[in-house]
Amino acid sequence: MTTYTFPKGFWWGSAASGPQTEGVLTNDGKGDSIWDHWYKEAPERFFDQVGPEKTSQFLTKYQEDIQLMKQTGHTSFRTSIQWSRLIPEGTGAVNPEAVAFYNAVIDELIANDIEPFINLFHFDMPMAMQAKGGWLNRETVEAYVAYAKTCFELFGDRVTKWFTHNEPIVPVEGGYLYDFHYPNHINLKEAIQVAYHENLASAMAIQAYHAMDLAGEIGIILNLTPSYPRDPENPADVKAANIADLFFNRSFLDPAIKGEFPAELIAIVQELEMVPAILEGDLAIIQNNTIDLLGINYYQPRRIKAKESAVDHSHGPLPDDFFDNYDMPNRKMNVYRGWEIYEKGIYDILTNVRENYGNLPCYISENGMGVEGEERFADENGAIQDDYRIRFVKDHLKYVHQAIQEGSSVRGYHMWTCMDNWSWTNAYKNRYGFIAVDLNQDAKRTIKKSGHWFKTVSDQNGFTD
Ligand code: BG6
Repeated sequence: MTTYTFPKGFWWGSAASGPQTEGVLTNDGKGDSIWDHWYKEAPERFFDQVGPEKTSQFLTKYQEDIQLMKQTGHTSFRTSIQWSRLIPEGTGAVNPEAVAFYNAVIDELIANDIEPFINLFHFDMPMAMQAKGGWLNRETVEAYVAYAKTCFELFGDRVTKWFTHNEPIVPVEGGYLYDFHYPNHINLKEAIQVAYHENLASAMAIQAYHAMDLAGEIGIILNLTPSYPRDPENPADVKAANIADLFFNRSFLDPAIKGEFPAELIAIVQELEMVPAILEGDLAIIQNNTIDLLGINYYQPRRIKAKESAVDHSHGPLPDDFFDNYDMPNRKMNVYRGWEIYEKGIYDILTNVRENYGNLPCYISENGMGVEGEERFADENGAIQDDYRIRFVKDHLKYVHQAIQEGSSVRGYHMWTCMDNWSWTNAYKNRYGFIAVDLNQDAKRTIKKSGHWFKTVSDQNGFTD
């Protein structure tokens, strides 16, 4: 048996987002986001046709939920401020009910000794902005910065951990490459412009935050997927894995921390003749406004091999023209979600940040195990006996611990997620929470075995295994 003890003050908690938890009340003043709009337009795209209005009702149950966070050992909790709730049209008037709600949540967390971590953008473009082109339109960058400033002004006296985006590559992939987010375009040139504007918006929000001289830190949350080549001795596989890394990791990681895009990525984009529209002064803003703190979401790696399949020309170029995904034989799988489990990936990411990105302070902002049909693991009292999740978290935490021993400045661990929540087009298909939500019983909450276990980890600042 080994005891794994974490640094003093390590943040234990979980992450969620506004659109995935809050729900909607009649006359609450919220404007539509792309998710509200898309669900009305195409409910069949959502698992069991369950849309964003049917979330776990954090809007009315937040006090109960914060007590449950305490019971599960949370010392911190991340959620997001929905842009379309705060500023229903994307620009202009602020919704007073939203201000009251977010103030109440922040105050309730602090009163219960749970540090609020607030993210700004979690895939939830206000529909009024999307109608004008969303992230393709430079005006959205300006509107986003105004929304960010409003948040800092309203809540920055109490919130000291801010994030500009959660997984900004996902709206690029979902909305502009692979058709799993609105507006369902498949267009690499647009995808590159969207990614560029998200990067610029992040730097501009950081600039605004630092100019306000508030006593806090601001960062970005990135889903980093280490790209492992099929054969590390085969140069073609290595090159393919490197290109996947450039597109999906370094396109945000480098500007966020180093203030510049990787030269190899610029060369690829130039070769494709897809250089985005960049205004004078933009690159200096990106250069001069890097993050204070990095959030790392890690679920599974990418396994890559040199391109063997035929290039699909039906949509113009795609990143996939440069590599193929590789189904590595015998890899360990989460059979309940179909994702690979590779715990060492978390260590490889932390080592990379330490060795190649100046060992910037970071924390694990999401890690977790989705399970389809999880109710089958309930005991006679209805409590989910999720020993598989405890194993999953322990095995990842061991690698986080090892990275810390080797010098990585990791400041916390957040599970995805606190309560089972609505997850975009997957709705409630995969359950991730420490706490189960029964949609058939007014979203009744029941702590899972992993939630009780996590309390012991938080109380002891570590665990024995
Ligand atoms: C994370 C996102 O990457 O994956 C979350 O930040 C999302 O918003 C989670 O809910 C789980 O995704 P899925 O598809 O397994 O439900």
